[in-house]
Amino acid sequence: MRIGILGSGLMGAKLGTLFARAGHDVVFSYARSEQKLKRLAREAEGSARAGTPADAARDADALLLAVHWSRVDDVLKQAGDLAGKVIVTCSLPMNANDTELVIAHTSSGAEALAKKLPKAHIVSAFGTVPSEVLFGVFDARRRKNRPSLLYCGDHQRAKDAAAALIHDVGFDPVDAGLLRMARNMEPFTLLIAQLAYEGDEGPEIGYRFERFETKEVK
Ligand SMILES: NC(=O)c1ccc[n+]([C@@H]2O[C@H](COP(=O)([O-])OP(=O)(O)OC[C@H]3O[C@@H](n4cnc5c(N)ncnc54)[C@H](OP(=O)(O)O)[C@@H]3O)[C@@H](O)[C@H]2O)c1
Repeated sequence: MRIGILGSGLMGAKLGTLFARAGHDVVFSYARSEQKLKRLAREAEGSARAGTPADAARDADALLLAVHWSRVDDVLKQAGDLAGKVIVTCSLPMNANDTELVIAHTSSGAEALAKKLPKAHIVSAFGTVPSEVLFGVFDARRRKNRPSLLYCGDHQRAKDAAAALIHDVGFDPVDAGLLRMARNMEPFTLLIAQLAYEGDEGPEIGYRFERFETKEVK
C-alpha cells in the first residue's frame, strides 16, 4: 500500500517506519522540521520519503492521522481534499495538557473526525497502545500469541486496509465493530496509559484478548 503519515511524532514516526519495513511505500509528513522527516525516511530501511501533508495524501491508499487533537484541523487543511480516502486515526481527543478527553461518552474523536470529513472512510486503530511497545511487537511478530489491537469503523474496505496494517506491525487485529465503538476504545486508552506510564515496569505494554471453550454444567 501507499501510506501517507500525517504527523511524524512518537506514533507516526514509529508506525511509518514499521509500515516501510513491512514493504509499504511511506510518505512522512507534518513535523516542525523537514530535516526530521528526511531522517525518518532515510532510516526507515524501506521505501519511504519526506513530503508535505498534500504529498502524503495525494496517491495514498491509506493515511495515518497521528497528531495532537489541537493540530487536527491544521494538518487536514494542509492535506487538501480527502474525499474517498482511508484514514486510520490514532489521534485521541485530549485537552492541551493531555489530562482528559474533550469528547467522550456521547461521541468520540474518531466520530468527530468522520463529521469533519464525511466523504473519507475513517478507521480508529493503533491509538490503544503506547508508542513505546510498537518496535517490540514488530520484533515479536513471528511468535504464536500476538498481542491484540482493537480497531473500529463503518466502512469495510477501509477496515480491511487497517486490519492488514495492524497485522503487518505484528498485532492480531480485533474488529470492535462500528466507528461509534471508539467511544469505548478511547477511554480504554487512558487505562492503558495509566498502566504504561504510572506503573513500575515501563511503558512497553500491550494487551491480548483470549476466548475459552466452556462446557455447560448441568
Ligand atoms: N504517544 C503515544 O504513545 C500515543 C498512544 C496512543 C495514541 N496517541 C495519540 O496519537 C496522536 C499523536 O501522538 P504522538 O505522541 O505521536 O504526538 P507527537 O509526538 O506530539 O507528534 C505529533 C507530530 O505533529 C507535529 N507537529 C506538532 N505541531 C506542529 C506544527 N505546528 N507544525 C507541524 N508539525 C507539528 C510534531 O512535530 P515534531 O516532530 O517536530 O515534534 C510531531 O511530528 C495524539 O493524538 C495522541 O493522543 C499517542
